[in-house]
Amino acid sequence: MALKRILTYGTFDLLHYGHIRLLRRAAAMGDYLVVALSTDEFNAGKGKQSYYDYETRKEMLEAIRYVDLVIPEENWAQKATDIEEYHIDTVVMGGDWAGSERFEYLKDVCEVVYLDRTPGISTTKIKENLELNG
Ligand code: CTP
Repeated sequence: MALKRILTYGTFDLLHYGHIRLLRRAAAMGDYLVVALSTDEFNAGKGKQSYYDYETRKEMLEAIRYVDLVIPEENWAQKATDIEEYHIDTVVMGGDWAGSERFEYLKDVCEVVYLDRTPGISTTKIKENLELNG
């Protein structure tokens, strides 16, 4: 039987347990997990700058047992191409994206699943806390 392939998108900066849980649950939905990791240029276009650069974030994601492949996320429009190129069955995103037009239209070409976020943790929160204590 063919492998079930899962795809998720994100920046995964200052990797934390909310990310790990999302990746573990995404991986458990199939046999092969692809993470499309936002590039520094793509984030800059959104007015965001991560603490760790793309190569460092990629290195950390590749060290996680749930992750099989990391590819760059460079623009908003690549998702349909990614799904085709990597033979994706299911796109998984955290619940903050539930119902978003950024993902809903993909339901025409694959399954789209939103998982509840882990409460109480985010990259933004870590940054805020470190600034308070630093
Ligand atoms: N995520 C999650 N639970 C959290 C934080 C993130 O399930 N507590 C999920 C997001 O929903 C997304 C993925 O992890 O599917 C990557 O999230 P990302 O936006 O990179 O991390 P955040 O911690 O949400 O970062 P920020 O505070 O900058 O939004």
